[in-house]
Amino acid sequence: MKEIMNPWEVKGEINYEKLIEKFGLSPLRQLPDIFEKNVLFRRKIIFAHRDIQRILEAIKSKKKFVMMTGLMPTGKFHLGHLILAEQMIFYQKLGAKIYIAVADVEAYNARGQSLEDSRKIAIEQYITNYIALGLNPKNCEIYFQSERSKDSEKSNAYYRLQNLLARYATFNEFKAVYGEISPGKMISSLLQASDMLHAQLPEFEKKCPVIVPVGIDQDPHIRLARDISKRIKDFDFEQLSSTYHFFMPGLSKGKMSSSDENSFIALTDSPKEVETKIKKYAFSGGRDTLEEHRKKGGNPDVDVSFQYLRFFFEPDDEKLKRIEEDYRSGKLLTGELKMILILKINEFLKEHQKKREVAKKEVGKFLQ
Ligand code: TRP
Repeated sequence: MKEIMNPWEVKGEINYEKLIEKFGLSPLRQLPDIFEKNVLFRRKIIFAHRDIQRILEAIKSKKKFVMMTGLMPTGKFHLGHLILAEQMIFYQKLGAKIYIAVADVEAYNARGQSLEDSRKIAIEQYITNYIALGLNPKNCEIYFQSERSKDSEKSNAYYRLQNLLARYATFNEFKAVYGEISPGKMISSLLQASDMLHAQLPEFEKKCPVIVPVGIDQDPHIRLARDISKRIKDFDFEQLSSTYHFFMPGLSKGKMSSSDENSFIALTDSPKEVETKIKKYAFSGGRDTLEEHRKKGGNPDVDVSFQYLRFFFEPDDEKLKRIEEDYRSGKLLTGELKMILILKINEFLKEHQKKREVAKKEVGKFLQ
């Protein structure tokens, strides 16, 4: 399959090494202990960055900083979305103020989805799950791109910034950064630039470091925002920081995507659905026959079930290592590996789905 990757479409195998080089990202090396305690950083699932030192310094000197991210409210909230949700909660615990944009304008312009549908999906799927996962309403602002704030000074400042930034981007730059581009997509990327930068305006948090954790497909948005924020002299912005994480693989490899039913496990799936999906669709690094598997062993690097354990479901490094070794040696069979994962996911979802019921009643606290 041909590789397609832009902020609106990801298909095929992604060559991360090549992209790090092409985009000019820095690989993430050893981080302070508080980061290394987190599975995503320790296992290099978050693998690259731009300017993360600004955030490390802010944490060290207990200075204010913001974690900003956005969500495209299409389809169901699935395991792949956990990566970003985890980071929101991680940075919130480190003292960051959290800004979350519901990209309903972007969904309207780039995907033809109505604002009403976006609102419903954002609340029922994304926000409810964030709350159930532990996001705290204190120090957290969730807003819709189509409705930044009821406070008109704040709202004006956000849309004003989007409009003024337009002067500092050229059409050729848009084409180079995004490939195919339409007026709707241009508007969306300027609005996303405002999402990422507006926290630093006097009407919001004032100048401060901002970290934007993203999948690598969103880097064009980041590059554009970084470039134009340096050119605009009407404001004094601290340069944006960003980190990049791997996509959680879909059940049959590729990216886990809500537009492909058989690629994901949703956080609302039943135990039976989880079991069927993993057994039926999870790509296996095992051998064709039992005999061959015992003799030559499986390949955990391409095995989707093993990868889910590594990304999220087996946080204990020792236990993960044992599973990896047993699989490689042929001691552990694909069916057994899948069973370990099924039990882990269902144990997690059982608790999570209870928390979701409580979270449903708390959504109001998150939306002003
Ligand atoms: N474009 C992002 C997506 O498709 C959503 C988004 C909107 C976003 N504003 C943002 C992401 C600001 C990071 C920061 O998922």
